[in-house]
Amino acid sequence: MASVTSLTDLVSKQLTSALSATRPEASADPLLRRSDRADFQANGILALAKKAKANPRDLATEVVSHLTTGDVIKDVEVSGPGFLNITIADRAVLENLAARYADDTGRLGVPLAANPGTTVIDYAQPNVAKEMHVGHLRSAVIGDALRGMLDFTGEKTIGRHHIGDWGTQFGMLIQYLMEHPGELAPASEVDGEQAMSNLNRVYKASRALFDADEAFKERARKRVVALQSGDKETLELWQQFVDESKVYFYSVFEKLDMEIRDDEIVGESAYNEGMPETARLLEEMGVAERSEGALVVFFDDIRGKDDQPVPLIVQKADGGFGYAASDLTAIRNRVLDLDATTLLYVVDVRQSLHFKMVFETARRAGWLNEGVTAHNMGYGTVLGADGKPFKTREGETVRLEDLLDEAVQRAAEVVREKARDLTEEEIQERAAQVGIGAVKYADLSTSPSRDYKFDLDQMVSLNGDTSVYLQYAYARIQSILRKAGDVRPAAHPELELHEAERALGLHLDAFGDTVFEAAAEYAPHKLTAYLYQLASLYTSFYDKCPVLKADSPQQVENRLFLCDLTARTLTKGMALLGIRTPERL
Ligand code: ARG
Repeated sequence: MASVTSLTDLVSKQLTSALSATRPEASADPLLRRSDRADFQANGILALAKKAKANPRDLATEVVSHLTTGDVIKDVEVSGPGFLNITIADRAVLENLAARYADDTGRLGVPLAANPGTTVIDYAQPNVAKEMHVGHLRSAVIGDALRGMLDFTGEKTIGRHHIGDWGTQFGMLIQYLMEHPGELAPASEVDGEQAMSNLNRVYKASRALFDADEAFKERARKRVVALQSGDKETLELWQQFVDESKVYFYSVFEKLDMEIRDDEIVGESAYNEGMPETARLLEEMGVAERSEGALVVFFDDIRGKDDQPVPLIVQKADGGFGYAASDLTAIRNRVLDLDATTLLYVVDVRQSLHFKMVFETARRAGWLNEGVTAHNMGYGTVLGADGKPFKTREGETVRLEDLLDEAVQRAAEVVREKARDLTEEEIQERAAQVGIGAVKYADLSTSPSRDYKFDLDQMVSLNGDTSVYLQYAYARIQSILRKAGDVRPAAHPELELHEAERALGLHLDAFGDTVFEAAAEYAPHKLTAYLYQLASLYTSFYDKCPVLKADSPQQVENRLFLCDLTARTLTKGMALLGIRTPERL
């Protein structure tokens, strides 16, 4: 078995048995956590003492008498009102890390979840014939990172890119294209930029016509009906808009260094066929009711102005279906056909009311039950460096690609300054990895529900909590390993560890536990915080403990081993978040 039990788990287990040996009738969590005073501190005895009506310090002393010190726990002492301070044997730390290092599956010894589920994750969902904006960026970046972490735990994940590819606006677009054939070049002949500029042109022109010309407006309305009734020619033109948009989406995702699978682009239109049935079922079950011709669902606790109830509209009075019907139909598909145990949505927090109503409706209909959890990870707004909503100086929304290009350009300046021996091509390649990494990291390291400032200067800074700092830490380690001759160093568990080595080692051991926690809480920022601390602990280790000039050959090798395991942990953690770590910077 390649998997390694973390030291935290080992010690927790020993403590749990000592606790139950002390008070067999009561069960208690030892509440183990890392501590500055010793390696770990256990706080769980306080709660147990309360339950058992015992003096906590006496109880703690009793628990200690049931603990065997030796292989793993080197030392344990009672402190404060009844805490335990626990020190781990150096040998145990190094043996644990050596086992992680020996795992050649790329998992650093981290075991898979015992009972993984299936998560359908709805993320990266731009809209057809529209430019992507910074909000779509957040959904893509956060969703991709969550997926990376969940996959690592062994969860089965299925992506769903619920793109906006249906709606009345297509009547206007298609009608315009019919009357102006050739305005959209075939999707196979354009790149992303041309595709978007064509779409923009058609959008603007058709909008202008729609607003100015009553007769065109009428023809556009009829075109909506033709689209909804599946008219062949209309659908073909609709498909052209979708294909052209996909060329553009893919070019942005590529720039984002993100893999999006075509079979996972399942937009609103994919649920068209199921929508009438969704409506029929909801009405039959009495979940939805007719109100002024529309089919709606009411909620006691959702009210608007004047305390009027705000309903979810399943079907409009004219018979048309909208956003809610497609989401409800998607839930049926995801739960009943894809066997999801979790539905995760990475969608702007401003849509949280929509999801609250949709989830509640699905619950009443029995499509969501105890076996399935639904969660909208509503993310906050992206703000400019000035803390105001993100706009260009002219007050327009910022184009996503311009933003990404600028990030890469800034990164190129940083890379060029640092590494004078790189060719221009190498600079550009690294700049892309640094710039895009910086954008992703800045987003991920903020708690997702909070708004966040898009501040390029801060993002590509070499100091502080940035991806560039982590990438440099990684590249520096690679350079040391190259100097040492690219050997695969072995650990030397017989050696005594320096304080800075212990701190680094214990943190390395916590990688798997951190990923599991961050994945379970949908909190990528917990992983970025872990990685940042890893780089900081590495820096202080490097400052205090000479590596290539250490006292003995064993010491050199043991420290190279710590360097390499740090690098592997850094690169793995960053990869889960979708961020690359270049070998040289
Ligand atoms: N396309 C939508 C937008 O741009 C987001 C879709 C979110 N996903 C969903 N299942 N409703 O706002």
